[in-house]
Amino acid sequence: MEQNLFVSKAAPAVPFVSSWKAPSNIALVKYWGKSEPQLPKNPSLSFTLSTSVTETKVNFQPATSCTFDFYFHGEKRPDFNPKIQHFIDRITPYIPWITNYHLVISSENSFPHSSGIASSASAMAALSLNLMDLEQHLFPTMEKDYFHKKASFLARLGSGSAARSIEGPVTIWGKTTSCSTSSELYAVPFGSDLHPIFESYRDAILLVDHGSKVVSSTQGHQLMHKHPYAEKRFSQAAENLNALLPIMRSGDLDAFIKIVELEALSLHAMMMTSTPYFVLFKPNTLAIIEKIWEYRAGQKVPVCFTLDAGANVHVLYPAEYASTVEDFINKELAVFCEQGKYLLDRVGTGAKKM
Ligand code: DP6
Repeated sequence: MEQNLFVSKAAPAVPFVSSWKAPSNIALVKYWGKSEPQLPKNPSLSFTLSTSVTETKVNFQPATSCTFDFYFHGEKRPDFNPKIQHFIDRITPYIPWITNYHLVISSENSFPHSSGIASSASAMAALSLNLMDLEQHLFPTMEKDYFHKKASFLARLGSGSAARSIEGPVTIWGKTTSCSTSSELYAVPFGSDLHPIFESYRDAILLVDHGSKVVSSTQGHQLMHKHPYAEKRFSQAAENLNALLPIMRSGDLDAFIKIVELEALSLHAMMMTSTPYFVLFKPNTLAIIEKIWEYRAGQKVPVCFTLDAGANVHVLYPAEYASTVEDFINKELAVFCEQGKYLLDRVGTGAKKM
């Protein structure tokens, strides 16, 4: 099994400190449905973001078993412990040396608290990189490619979409015949033939609703197990990814927009047709979508939207249209955001060691 490649040897403990900054990502082809252990039912593709990041510092102290303390923005937060413990339990077989450490984990997000932006992708990616940082210190002959793959592999075991938050500007996670290096176990970067327009693409995140979600992503993935349209959805996503790959090389924005918006609405259609059904859209989400369609048709500007598992809208546009589109957002879309708030982000190059 390929995953055996990621089992490291045990090693004696050494004190070590690691700091990494990992970005969030926004999927263009959505991951929605998985099987154990965190294997996606379809391949997905995302833009790595740039300013929406989690920065995590881990102080590794030699100990007789693996224990940890977690601090978020300087405050001790034991409410996060079950999630982190579950992650550590899952990854210990791959990093057996961790049983010799107590970890003091300090984490901060760049985006505002309770903005409705999911932080699990950037948080799990940053923590996985801290762990790989120490593993590289213990085994210095490790190659860069292995470092990235294993960081993505570990991040995936924390949160599926986190696998796509290690590298940039575009990553693919899940097996697809149209990308020979793709894997269900980790994400891989798109490759050097990505059209340059996508390297500087913009993502304005319109904060429509910060309220806690009625259904978490994890529950949403579960609901795909008995979903009447599941198989059709998984094949649709695989086909959309196959169709999107050549578009990401050619830079055909009309074709890009059609697939990206279809994916966003298909994701929400799955939510609306599961048992139990649920709706994460808000009236303002739809108002924004309609305004974008009207503006695109009228102004001939290649702007489109995508959605996460929530009410916020990600507005996507090429860098050369940044000032016109941001003017439009400010004048016509900000009124639909909570307290008029939105974040301007852009496609980024991946995580960074601090
Ligand atoms: C709608 O990665 O948050 O954002 O693997 O259970 O942690 P878990 O789920 P998560 O799901 C992300 C769902 C999505 C689509 C996507 O990012 O591809």
